[in-house]
Amino acid sequence: RRVSREDIVVDKGGHRHFMLKEIMDQPQAMTAALKDRADFANGRVNLPEFPLSPADVMQLERVVLIGCGTSLHAAQVGRHYIERLAGIPAEAESASEFRYRDPIIGPRTLVVSIGQSGETADTVAAMHLAREKGATLITICNAEESQAARVADGALYMHAGLEVGVASTKTFVASLTILQLLSVYLGQLRGKLDAETTRRLVDQMARGPGLIGEVLAEANLYSSLARRIGHYDNFLFLGRGANAAIASEGALKLKEISYIHAEGYPAGEMKHGPIALIDPEMCTVALAPRDDLRDKTLSNIKEVKARGGLVVAVLTKGDDEAASEVDFPLFIPQAPDLLMPLVTTVPLQLLSYYIALLRGCDVDQPRNLAKSVTVE
Ligand code: AGP
Repeated sequence: RRVSREDIVVDKGGHRHFMLKEIMDQPQAMTAALKDRADFANGRVNLPEFPLSPADVMQLERVVLIGCGTSLHAAQVGRHYIERLAGIPAEAESASEFRYRDPIIGPRTLVVSIGQSGETADTVAAMHLAREKGATLITICNAEESQAARVADGALYMHAGLEVGVASTKTFVASLTILQLLSVYLGQLRGKLDAETTRRLVDQMARGPGLIGEVLAEANLYSSLARRIGHYDNFLFLGRGANAAIASEGALKLKEISYIHAEGYPAGEMKHGPIALIDPEMCTVALAPRDDLRDKTLSNIKEVKARGGLVVAVLTKGDDEAASEVDFPLFIPQAPDLLMPLVTTVPLQLLSYYIALLRGCDVDQPRNLAKSVTVE
């Protein structure tokens, strides 16, 4: 008899909720995704499961990443990785939109579906459409033997272990890790990355679990911040570049487990509408770690403060200048650009968790939501 999901006994590992356990498990989830793929000794990435030959990889013209919910946010980060590291034009789209378009894709398009369950109806339908149109199709998923794995030409499994909490956490980190591996792998094969750069990127990946662990070690800070801001009924999450997708993910986490109205926006879009919402009743959570875009986001923070809004900001440790502009700084360790989206995600997960807890919400099984959305 095959082992089914129901046969697998999981416990909360001493934590109050599965979600908190799964947040805390993220360093291990990243390590498991890297295992046997990141070759630390030789400074390379190996992806034996990838279905295309090196010659076919050279022929790729486009990468289309699809998913829903948190997996769509992973796709949006993945787009940045693919373009920057593999040098291939890339786009990210909701599978629920993609399936109803008439997308122009063919054999030189690599379609990458992302999903924890591999059973999301819209994602699987979008994969069938990609298949009909002759694209090369791979899936990044956690559940082995899922529909997604069956439809795809190849599956890059997360190996994150069972995720019980309805809110995806460790599988998001695992998805981002595999997207990094995939991007470096394609860049390596196509000659976009030289051996030295590849080695540097692989060395950076090795630091990921430790950097995530550093944020987790300060989890109690988020519990006290939740007590200060958990009564706000409106939240705006802002970020730029890959962190725009993390802002959307932060908003999704907060709304799904605490039922608070939250929106995620690219910070540059703020002046095109959301700025009208800023008043003392609005809590803005800005992602402004030290990177090329930090100064721009800091300007947005100042605009929010000038209008009386409350600002919580995720900043790099030691950035006292930015800290002096905000109400509540949340410090993360300095991280390379490659790892930044993984590191900025963790404070937002912890904040959502503790706010939901404070509001007495059912963290692991929020109302109206299913772990896997197998209907349209
Ligand atoms: C994530 O916290 C949500 N529960 C939800 O958005 C989820 O990511 C979405 O339903 C997609 O699921 P999948 O990754 O299993 O395809």
